[in-house]
Amino acid sequence: MNSEPVEVRVWAHRGASAETPENTLAAFRRAVEIGVGGIELDVQLTRDGVPVVLHDPTLERTTDGRGWVGDWTWSELRRLDAGAWFHPRFAGERIPTLAEALVAIPEEVWINIELKTTPEVYRGLEEQVVNCVRASGRRRIIYSSFDHSALERLQRIDPEARLGLLYDGFLLSPWKYARQAGLRIYSLHVRHWFAGRGLAQAARRKGLAVFAYTVNDPRRAAHLFRSGVHGVFTDNPRRVRG
Ligand code: G3P
Ligand code: MG
Repeated sequence: MNSEPVEVRVWAHRGASAETPENTLAAFRRAVEIGVGGIELDVQLTRDGVPVVLHDPTLERTTDGRGWVGDWTWSELRRLDAGAWFHPRFAGERIPTLAEALVAIPEEVWINIELKTTPEVYRGLEEQVVNCVRASGRRRIIYSSFDHSALERLQRIDPEARLGLLYDGFLLSPWKYARQAGLRIYSLHVRHWFAGRGLAQAARRKGLAVFAYTVNDPRRAAHLFRSGVHGVFTDNPRRVRG
């Protein structure tokens, strides 16, 4: 399946998170309105096994709830407000389920589903996420995770899945590392400090995309594009253009 990797130039990081509350349907709709090629979102599992879209392992920063995401059931989490912390006009925004996000984002927009598994390890997360994507019928999906064992589990469940090797630091030969780990990867998701010309060009020769996170300065983004990266994750897709 690994043909030419897709050139999604601008990924809305957690949706259009500079102007709407991150990882909410409002953030995804705004990103679509702006016209991004892709949306990145973070997924965790509720106590009763529902994939939900939220970045932190705890609820305090972006909702009016408390404690660990994985300690609550979906019917408990769905009552929380996930918008008012950002601005009162977003009061009433909820934590979306992954299924709701897949419905809200139009089919032509790519989605990068980042599986969050640390410090909590969510048993069955990979399977629930793949089931959810299969039920949606969506094709334009890239899965990523800092937890490469999660990618390995996901690959076993869906050998056709596009996997993004997400890491933070400098890896000499990420493709070699991935091969040794038994991962058939599609893209490299790299902190932008480490996404220079050398990496971008070597990755292109290997048929891999390089997506750099998180780039909110348009000049930095332009420099990265000149260096050959395929795309950037940005909180502010209104300013950072591809
Ligand atoms: O997937 C890129 C980026 O989202 C990884 O870091 O902490 O923003 O999820 P984080
Ligand atoms: Mg993320």
